[in-house]
Amino acid sequence: MGLFDGKKGLILGVANDRSIAWAIAEFIMKEGGECGFTHLPDRPDDPKRKNRRRVAQCTEQYQQARFLVPLDVRDDSNIAAVMEQTADTFGTIDFLLHSIAYADREDLKRDTVETSRDGFTLAMEISAYSLIAVSNAAKEILSPRSAIATMTYFGGEKCVPGYNIMGVCKAALDAIVRYLAFDLGPRGIRVNALSAGPLKTLAGSAAGVGDMLGLYAHMAPLGRNVTHEEVGKTGAFLLSDLSDGITGEILHIDGGYNAMGSPGRLLDLIRTATA
Ligand SMILES: NC(=O)c1ccc[n+]([C@@H]2O[C@H](COP(=O)([O-])OP(=O)(O)OC[C@H]3O[C@@H](n4cnc5c(N)ncnc54)[C@H](O)[C@@H]3O)[C@@H](O)[C@H]2O)c1
Repeated sequence: MGLFDGKKGLILGVANDRSIAWAIAEFIMKEGGECGFTHLPDRPDDPKRKNRRRVAQCTEQYQQARFLVPLDVRDDSNIAAVMEQTADTFGTIDFLLHSIAYADREDLKRDTVETSRDGFTLAMEISAYSLIAVSNAAKEILSPRSAIATMTYFGGEKCVPGYNIMGVCKAALDAIVRYLAFDLGPRGIRVNALSAGPLKTLAGSAAGVGDMLGLYAHMAPLGRNVTHEEVGKTGAFLLSDLSDGITGEILHIDGGYNAMGSPGRLLDLIRTATA
């Protein structure tokens, strides 16, 4: 018997098989859950429909992947169409994963103090406001014992140089989680965030995970980075009945990095290098 037997839900944010959303969805489907998926709309001048194809290459392996439809979270009619498809397929749902972030590369590279007005608005709309938009659109079809989870990062809690505008977006996202948990609590809908250590993905590379992987391996109490599989099962935990009673929470899956108040074992390297 699987943890997600009889459970149905919506997975937003698979771009390819390295996406965190895919790691979570695979765990859920292997445990018997059924999922609806979305992909970023393809440009009309892309006959190969690359965005759809990359996600379809993942979902086609699973019978429990019930649909794949386009979604740009900047477009309310897109969001409404996704919810309509979800209601048609499943009636009500038990879980909703929001695993979406975007900032213009130029803005990501800039010091936060130089963030452009347009870049700020775009990054906030896609990376933070979209959680409000999809939660509001989904609240009527989320069952009275259901869960929403989003993906966040420690750069929203503390200054992580290089994470820049995305850190500001994650701070907003973390606050949104707490306010939505309050608003949706009476409906029996839980809202939590998973704060993952660095993982190599499309969004991760844009946000500079390359440097962070080495840092975490040296500083985190576990002395290593977390894996896609670990993040997948912890995300599934937040979306399952196992986490009943948890809401408004930021759960860290980062090998303990966030618990450190000094560079820890990295100091040994610095001492050796300077001896
Ligand atoms: N990779 C990491 O190290 C890491 C660590 C902590 C948190 N996160 C967060 O995890 C989430 C997923 O990122 P990922 O690392 O799996 O990378 P990813 O690139 O695989 O996923 C990002 C997703 O956002 C989607 N997206 C972007 N703009 C969109 C729009 N306008 N409408 C709809 N969807 C849109 C993309 O299509 C993609 O599927 C993000 O919120 C990211 O900030 C990532």
